[in-house]
Amino acid sequence: MNFEYLTPEAIYQYTLKRCQKASSLLDELWDYTHQHTEAPKMLTGPIEGNSLNMLVGIAGVKRILEIGTFTGYSALWMAGALPDDGMLTTCELNPQNIGIAQMFFDRSEDGKKIRIQQGPALKTMQEMIESDHPSFDLIFVDADKKNYPRYFQKCLNLTQVGSLIVFDNTLWSGRVLEENQDEETQGIDRLNILAAQDPHVQNVLLTIRDGIQLMRRVK
Ligand SMILES: C[S@@+](CC[C@H](N)C(=O)[O-])C[C@H]1O[C@@H](n2cnc3c(N)ncnc32)[C@H](O)[C@@H]1O
Repeated sequence: MNFEYLTPEAIYQYTLKRCQKASSLLDELWDYTHQHTEAPKMLTGPIEGNSLNMLVGIAGVKRILEIGTFTGYSALWMAGALPDDGMLTTCELNPQNIGIAQMFFDRSEDGKKIRIQQGPALKTMQEMIESDHPSFDLIFVDADKKNYPRYFQKCLNLTQVGSLIVFDNTLWSGRVLEENQDEETQGIDRLNILAAQDPHVQNVLLTIRDGIQLMRRVK
């Protein structure tokens, strides 16, 4: 199963037409990523970008942590809704992706609010926890799926009551329904169980794009 099947193509195209348009820079980044990277499907896309931007605005978010920058598409969408004194830290392993992301951040008004942290994100998060880093208002996790349960535990340490925790690809093209799950699917399925059961969070699994697990800290 492919994630496009989760939303019928005609409905997707209609939704796209009736949503706020991406900026021309975001459209350019979209095209550049398709031309210069091997896995452009990793881009969250305009509907999810809009949804993240809306969440940041509605919740009055000022501090964001993103796990999985890729070429900076979702970071730029979220930074667009941050106030001038807001800050987004985004974690990425791959230096080539970082180069592309920084190139586009430098061309954006919102780029000054974004800081890229290179390295394995679990290590970065652990260092933040150990250094008593101020808590984040929103954490968006969109990286290695097998580690989703570990990211969730770290998210609990880096947020407070009222913060939002958002995980992407939580339907994984429908593979969460399979009985014989690979390591990545198991990580996602386990995260979805944790989200529904952990008393620290209220959650809803949204069927937007490839599934968005949206949680709010209540404890
Ligand atoms: C799905 S892409 C992120 C897409 C991005 N949020 C967007 O909308 O354009 C996942 C990214 O996470 C990065 N990544 C994978 N494992 C990582 C890790 N352990 N630490 C930091 N980044 C990681 C990958 O290199 C990849 O660029």
